[in-house]
Amino acid sequence: MILRTDASNALVPLALGLLQIHGALAAAPRSPSNQCIAACQLWLNQIPFDDIPADTPYVARGCAGTLGPTSLFLCSTRYCPEVDLVEGFRALNETCQRFGSHLPSVDLIAGYTDEELAKILRLQPADHPPKGPVKEVLLPAGPLFRNAVYTLNAVSYIHIRHIGFGLCVFFFWIIAILVGVGFRISHMFQGSVSEKAALARRKRTKLENR
Ligand SMILES: *[C@@H]1O[C@H](CO)[C@@H](O)[C@H](O)[C@H]1NC(C)=O
Repeated sequence: MILRTDASNALVPLALGLLQIHGALAAAPRSPSNQCIAACQLWLNQIPFDDIPADTPYVARGCAGTLGPTSLFLCSTRYCPEVDLVEGFRALNETCQRFGSHLPSVDLIAGYTDEELAKILRLQPADHPPKGPVKEVLLPAGPLFRNAVYTLNAVSYIHIRHIGFGLCVFFFWIIAILVGVGFRISHMFQGSVSEKAALARRKRTKLENR
């Protein structure tokens, strides 16, 4: 699921897609170049390519078949030209290897000519995600790719907000407990002080009464 860029529509799909996006984020540490690669991955994971086995885990979908990896590599060379593909996809490749598959070599896209590239269907935001099984290599159109980047940024922001909120609650309880313990200790202390004073007073009155 990829968000539209108007904020009013953003929250519902965001909530629905959070779990899926979480998977994509888990496989992608967040530096700007990784963010670019992660946007391609986020987009790609939602394309129902014909050659992906149905039981492929979500985080390993980018490695399955050849349509997916080809689209993924082409997306990256198109939108993240500064990223070295082997470096950029190391994390995904390692994730896939944990699930018993791996990415093909980047040679997969070595043979593409400019003409062939120009013929590849650019998926528009309105057509995303495609309904039926997709039997061809795809690229996200510019606006769709930007929506994927925007979605990732929104999720990172929410993660940060979430952690910030968690920390506030944590410190609230630490302070609440410290204040509570402090009161108890000062009460105990005051109690023993006043008891001693009472004892001393009683002694004094006893002495005076003699
Ligand atoms: C992914 O790993 C496999 C196995 O180690 C390797 O053959 C392949 O070239 C790697 N793919 C990329 C894109 O780095």
